[in-house]
Amino acid sequence: MKVLVIGGGAREHAIVFALKKGGAKIYSVMKNENPGIKRASEEFLIHDENDAEKIADYARRKNIELAIIGPEAPEQHGVANALLEKGIKVASPTKEAAEIETNKEFMRWLMDKYRIKGSVKSKAFDDVSMAKEFIEMLDGEVAIKPIGLTGGKGVKVAGDHFNSIEEAVEYAKEVIEKGIGGMHRVLIEEKVVGEEFTLQAFCDGQAVYPMPAVQDHKRLLPDDKGPNTGGMGSYSHKSGILPFMSIDDYEIATNILQKIVDALRNEGREYRGVIYGQFMLTADGPKVIEINARFGDPEAMNVLPLLKNNFVEMCDAMANGDLTNSCIDFEAKSTVCKYVVPSGYGINPKEGIEIEVDEDSIKKENALLFYASVNEKDGKIYTTRSRSLAIVGIADEIEDAEKICEAGLKHVRGDVFIRHDIGKKELIEKRIKHMKMLRGE
Ligand code: AMP
Ligand code: GLY
Repeated sequence: MKVLVIGGGAREHAIVFALKKGGAKIYSVMKNENPGIKRASEEFLIHDENDAEKIADYARRKNIELAIIGPEAPEQHGVANALLEKGIKVASPTKEAAEIETNKEFMRWLMDKYRIKGSVKSKAFDDVSMAKEFIEMLDGEVAIKPIGLTGGKGVKVAGDHFNSIEEAVEYAKEVIEKGIGGMHRVLIEEKVVGEEFTLQAFCDGQAVYPMPAVQDHKRLLPDDKGPNTGGMGSYSHKSGILPFMSIDDYEIATNILQKIVDALRNEGREYRGVIYGQFMLTADGPKVIEINARFGDPEAMNVLPLLKNNFVEMCDAMANGDLTNSCIDFEAKSTVCKYVVPSGYGINPKEGIEIEVDEDSIKKENALLFYASVNEKDGKIYTTRSRSLAIVGIADEIEDAEKICEAGLKHVRGDVFIRHDIGKKELIEKRIKHMKMLRGE
């Protein structure tokens, strides 16, 4: 089957890897020349990933049968809609269904309207003085969010990014006045405390089929310090849940995703594709932090290599709106993924510098390599301002997966930065302790 993949990051490289394993002929559209995707593709187009008409024309010309969209921005720009109009099947949501991610106010509104448990107190404002009143009512214990997309970097949280009501109001004002996230409006949410986890699920418009839970690390620096990033790395456990959560928590989160999909269908926005829940596990159970309309990056790299089913068939079934006969199965293994980013990433990244990647040695360590936002010129790899590549280790235990990941990372050289603490025992034990403390155990 001819499958078109939109996006040129490590998540899309992982998608391509899984599709290729399933026998697909890959075509890609990406804005950077990802060496991994390039080599796996029959053909690729370097172009704006948000240009719906051009992508749909390209797909039509190449007789593409099925498409999958990696990032959220092309979904918002109606790439799925344009492909569907040309009669091409798409394993990703339309822009109307993807609003569950692209409009944070809509997400909270939908959860409130359908009384879906696991939401938090929230309100959106375009007036600073009213936003201030709400912030005061919540004693400054808030998260301040642009309504639209900001590449994971627009949210600020009390205690992490500001320390007073005045600073909170200042940021709310900035979001409104500058139109951060594309709207002169801000969402204020009650801050919740706990441990975060990601639950991704396949969805055919009707039912959700959950994947193993993953924990991402959004903060730039070791020990969860520094600014938020697109994600610095992630891990998962062979049990399918994480060391600080229970099966009940996993089931509650799955149920929340199911109710959201039901609500979307009821609103005439049938959701087909992978759906992603970012949850905070609190003393009071899982709370929704955000819903994404796609695989997570890096979380796709934790789950896709473990998928036992043929991923092409899974995508086809999602696009056809019928996953009912798919018995979805993952290998019972633990995974650790760490991103390599250019020095200065998140503040002032070093762009256009060469990094040396010894692919053969990485393979010999049994680690997986997924290229992200780099460019390949004359056989050499150069950084951009975004994340460069990710290395994944897979083993029975997290500890061994982490060692494989680190062994792979030794074969990447250059002026780069890595959060080496991800997947290490100390950090995971800290999470378990934190959760026990919150639960009063
Ligand atoms: P988002 O872009 O919505 O995922 O937010 C980025 C990060 O901010 C999340 O991963 C959380 O760590 C944090 N965050 C977002 N919303 C809240 C909230 N209501 N309470 C506490 N932390 C939050
Ligand atoms: N890992 C966070 C995201 O994909 O949004």
